Amino acid sequence: MLSHTEEIKSKLDVIDVLQEYIKLTPAGKNFKALCPFHQEKTPSFMVSPERQSWHCFGCSEGGDIFTFVMKMEGIEFIEALKLLAKKAGVQLKPQDPKILNRKNRLLDINELAKKFYAYLLKKSPAAESCRAYLRERKVSEQPISEFELGYAPNSWDKTTSFLESKGYKQDEILASGLIVKKDGGGRCYDRFRNRLMFPINNLHGQTVGFSARALDKSDSAKYINSPQTDIYNKSEILYGLDKAKNSIRQKNSVILVEGQMDLISAHSAGDKNSVATSGTALTETQIRILKRYSDNLLLAFDSDLAGQNAVKKGIDLAITLGMNIKVIQLQSGGDPDECIKNSPQDWLNAIKNAEPVLEYYFQQALKSFSIEDISGKKKIVKSLLPIIKKMPDLVEQNYYLKKLSQIVEVEEEILRETIKKDSKNESRRQAIKSESKKTVVKKGRDLQIAEEMAALLFKFPGIFSAVDFDLKILADEKIADFCQRLSDFYKDEQQNFSADEFVNILKQEDGALFNLSQSFLLLAEKDFLDFNLKQAEKQAAKNLRELKKSYILKQKVKIEKKIKEADKNNNEDLINKLSLRFEELNKEFFKLGG
Ligand code: UTP
Ligand code: MN
Repeated sequence: MLSHTEEIKSKLDVIDVLQEYIKLTPAGKNFKALCPFHQEKTPSFMVSPERQSWHCFGCSEGGDIFTFVMKMEGIEFIEALKLLAKKAGVQLKPQDPKILNRKNRLLDINELAKKFYAYLLKKSPAAESCRAYLRERKVSEQPISEFELGYAPNSWDKTTSFLESKGYKQDEILASGLIVKKDGGGRCYDRFRNRLMFPINNLHGQTVGFSARALDKSDSAKYINSPQTDIYNKSEILYGLDKAKNSIRQKNSVILVEGQMDLISAHSAGDKNSVATSGTALTETQIRILKRYSDNLLLAFDSDLAGQNAVKKGIDLAITLGMNIKVIQLQSGGDPDECIKNSPQDWLNAIKNAEPVLEYYFQQALKSFSIEDISGKKKIVKSLLPIIKKMPDLVEQNYYLKKLSQIVEVEEEILRETIKKDSKNESRRQAIKSESKKTVVKKGRDLQIAEEMAALLFKFPGIFSAVDFDLKILADEKIADFCQRLSDFYKDEQQNFSADEFVNILKQEDGALFNLSQSFLLLAEKDFLDFNLKQAEKQAAKNLRELKKSYILKQKVKIEKKIKEADKNNNEDLINKLSLRFEELNKEFFKLGG
């Protein structure tokens, strides 16, 4: 029988799983990406479909789908197991005590509550007002079932007693946010009463909370929401993303709306690449998550809202992070839900005519301030320049600087100077900030070359016959060990050399070396995919030269130390001997072109 992990691995492809988090581009048989675990500008993150594994040559992280999801989501193995099991359609044995941990129980509670509310909406006579409300708002059967809408009964304890009847304790239900503790006393009551329930899902379609709309006009809050919990982190959830992510990737754009109702209408109108912020400002985490799927963001907020401060902050952030943002302006006023329902054609036109957000900001600024007088001009500059400054694309930035300069009749150079002055302080702040950020241990150059050598030798063991070198110059013991074994194996086999066979032997004899071999195979495919033996030999010779030079430098440092030591002890003989050796090293170094 297969273990759970094996069964899941047999059903899921590493590419499909990783693609949900990062953008993969084909590279030969493999795929590469910018590593999500450290900052980098050129991709050193490789994924091998053949081996169902991944490895980053920048930060040395690597593994399979489980380790990736654990790292990416910041979760424990058990949670990754549950998440991937669901994706793979693998049933985990519910008695497994390991999966009864806290977060999973919270997920189960939310799942149960969702089903409970959905059932009531369908069947309960008490939900008639809710069904009528949905009819009135033209929400049809299809979205009701797709988004698993529900009805929370008009009761203080029905949700509680339902969940208790399923074996959950009060403190667990409390932790899920579905019930609220009464002030002072130990008694609890249902948080959501007589409301239309929108389950809020994480990226993987697991329900982590609810947004609940009032049905009764006299209810004081139009929407109430689940609180932040162990499984519901508001700064990273976007409503509808679990259903929209594939479409976002396909269309290479995402439509951002504000409300649950807007989102459901947009999806029903065929815009499946829509997600909702649920009425709060966009966070950096949300933007980074969206960026995994597409860089193109279309904002469909209430008219004028994109100009409001909270929203503007999110937009500025998205600009800084390099998103291309356009604003969908609804002519009719109102929100996307109303627009789609009143005039689907208006909605389509609005999407088609979406304008770059900077154009939108220009219009807003010109509406708000007069260009006739100097104080108006200053205000226009003050409102636009900080945003233009943030644009990472210099061509775009230049375009808008020119535009602003023409509008306010101020030399472009002056505007540029103003930006520079501001950014000097800014960059100082940034430098301090990035300094204090967790520093990724950067691989030394020597180690990098040693790895490259190993990868080269592995792919082109013929190099062993062409170049001769002392394996001790490889900066890392494990790598030297690997190369030694590879060399021995090659010398025994020569023409019959088979990389697969070598890997098999390692697999049986030495797990660490086997893992190393896997990463070298990937590295070879990353860097030397289309090399022939001649090119490989040339590259190896170049690497060797560099390694030797670095080895010599290290030796020189050691000898210098020894000379100082000998000098202290007045050991003339030793000083002479060491000096001679030092001279030899100098010559060798010189020969290598140092
Ligand atoms: P809106 O006030 O724009 O509501 O809030 P809406 O989406 O048009 O609501 P309907 O169409 O009348 O049902 C947008 C979003 O802000 C959040 C909700 O997520 C809502 O969908 N919100 C709003 C709250 O969390 N609490 C509130 O009291 C109001
Ligand atoms: Mn609305």
